[in-house]
Amino acid sequence: MTVKRKLIAGNWKMNASFSSNEALVKALVTGLDALKAQVGQPSLPDVLVCPPAPYWAQVSALLEGSSIAQGAQDVSEHDKGAYTGELSLSMLKEFKVDHVILGHSERRRYQFQNDSLICHKVFQAMNAGLTPIVCVGETQDEREQGQTWAVIKRQVMSALSMLPVDFDRVVVAYEPVWAIGTGLTATPVMAQEVHAYIRSLLEPRTTHAKALRILYGGSMNAANAQALLAQPDVDGGLIGSAALSSSDFLSIISSAVARNP
Ligand code: 13P
Repeated sequence: MTVKRKLIAGNWKMNASFSSNEALVKALVTGLDALKAQVGQPSLPDVLVCPPAPYWAQVSALLEGSSIAQGAQDVSEHDKGAYTGELSLSMLKEFKVDHVILGHSERRRYQFQNDSLICHKVFQAMNAGLTPIVCVGETQDEREQGQTWAVIKRQVMSALSMLPVDFDRVVVAYEPVWAIGTGLTATPVMAQEVHAYIRSLLEPRTTHAKALRILYGGSMNAANAQALLAQPDVDGGLIGSAALSSSDFLSIISSAVARNP
């Protein structure tokens, strides 16, 4: 049986500067090379960083020759035109940005993005050949009111509703809103339960459900990554604050090294 390669993705959110990016990316590239020398390329997880858009050119130059990919934090559902402040998929492609986070709870909350808009973005990103990372997750109130499953089902089914049968390449990220930036983390058991449920939602839609990656996000850090990543349906992490420290991010990457490739 081939072991599914995990994906460790850093969402830098609105945290970057030329100097901090340079230090962070150089340390990541060096650290990943050292890990590769130790465990071999086949055992490494896939690694992705998602900086703010103005830094794509700088980061893609720094990543040149490394195996680290670059992603965006959102994208417009439109191709081009009078959409002030928006970024298009063709712009992402020009900067070699091949992943895009969609439906992050901070975009849902502060930019008022709804399920219908997110579903259009997912469809367009797939059509353009990018890999969407679709974020879903319940709030604290929703969890307390026993609505976790209903919220996850609504968000997953809606986000994927325009995709053709048997889609592949999509990544889903389970990010409980109450765990983002709070220091609270879903326990490995809680994360596993929701991830298994998400996979069960994918199964009727695609024969690739088992191979698709479902990431956990929400205060994942160097201390808790190992236990979360050991769960059978946790295929990686979408990391916020710990992705801004090269040592923390590299430690999470080490926790995702395949034990028996
Ligand atoms: P934190 O890791 O800072 O909780 O953020 C998680 C997140 O929102 C990743 O997209």
